[in-house]
Amino acid sequence: MKIKNAKAFKILNSNSNFTVQVNITSDAGVFKGSSPAGESVSAFEVTPFKEGLDQEISAFNDFLKKIENRQLSGLDDIYALEKEIPKEFVGGPSLSLSYAMVYALSHELNKEPYSLFGSKNTVLPISKMLGGGMHASNLGMDIQEILAVTLGDDIKESVDGTLSVYKQLKELLKNSTYSFVGGVDPEGGFVTGLDNYESLKMVKKAIEKVVEKTGKDIRLGIDMAASTFFKDGVYVYKRPIYGKKEVSSGEQIDLIKKLIDEFDLYFIEDPVDESLLEDYGKILSLTDNLVVGDDATATVTERLEKAKGKINAALIKPNQVGLLYKVKEFSDKADKMGIIKVASHRSEETRTTLLSDLAVGLGAKYLKVGINRGERVDKINRLLEICQV
Ligand code: PGA
Ligand code: ZN
Repeated sequence: MKIKNAKAFKILNSNSNFTVQVNITSDAGVFKGSSPAGESVSAFEVTPFKEGLDQEISAFNDFLKKIENRQLSGLDDIYALEKEIPKEFVGGPSLSLSYAMVYALSHELNKEPYSLFGSKNTVLPISKMLGGGMHASNLGMDIQEILAVTLGDDIKESVDGTLSVYKQLKELLKNSTYSFVGGVDPEGGFVTGLDNYESLKMVKKAIEKVVEKTGKDIRLGIDMAASTFFKDGVYVYKRPIYGKKEVSSGEQIDLIKKLIDEFDLYFIEDPVDESLLEDYGKILSLTDNLVVGDDATATVTERLEKAKGKINAALIKPNQVGLLYKVKEFSDKADKMGIIKVASHRSEETRTTLLSDLAVGLGAKYLKVGINRGERVDKINRLLEICQV
């Protein structure tokens, strides 16, 4: 296919901030891409927009003029074009363009987008139940996310199990928590005034109730996003978990061990500061479950290499690097290292569902995505569509 025209412009993301959309016109029609952003970001990820958004979009449109008449016949052509994108546009603009190109190419080849990246793999959603940290109020829990995942090999069963936990949790909160008025955070997790410990207990209880009823294998997870409250070498908790407000690095590892034991944590994301890879390794030695890099690895292949032996799972957030060839490189490296891949939404999303296609095609085992809010549900629905059509 030939790019006849490409145009970047401003749209809103799900958290009411502006982002960029790119529309590509070919003989076959118009194809669209847009990029997400994060509220809690890693020091190792690219910034979505370097200068002001308006300035950047206008300069990016000048670049897009240069790619008119470009021929795209396969993913390699997209990867080659990505390598020509000037550095200042790597982030939001580049990813929006790449997503639009993938849709245009998939239409041209008459193939589902996921199949450009690989075969149809089963991907299970891991979803946020409760939100805290930078995604919620300053007075709630420090843990950024409490998550649930229903294990198995059937995505419909998995969605059903996790949804049951979410609904069960809502009932429990409605009947026991004055500070819960029904609200959700940007990723669809409920926000309550409960502290870390009470929150974990509440989700654990909801899971137990559903497991009792259904016999499903449902697990609890957390994203500690510990870097967000690591100040001058100390983890500063607003709502202490086991009694201490200021926790040293060594004490943080003990605290996580206690949480793993008490709550049987299956998924443990960024339990320590993103720069302290040795500490990730210490936590990995305490569990057979998933010790997950997000802020620590930031979809950057070199960070993944450095984390060898320290984590056994990593998030893939395409906008952390802004270029699909880098995402592919990271994914291939993870496979070589035996790292479990978890494709992931961001707190500020758009309605594009290409993330779900990437998760399936790249062979991610999980897709971390909210089970509430339209822009998240769209992505779960895309998984359900891929596996049922
Ligand atoms: P973010 O949060 O999109 O705000 O970075 C998600 C996460 O930390 O996993
Ligand atoms: Zn995270």
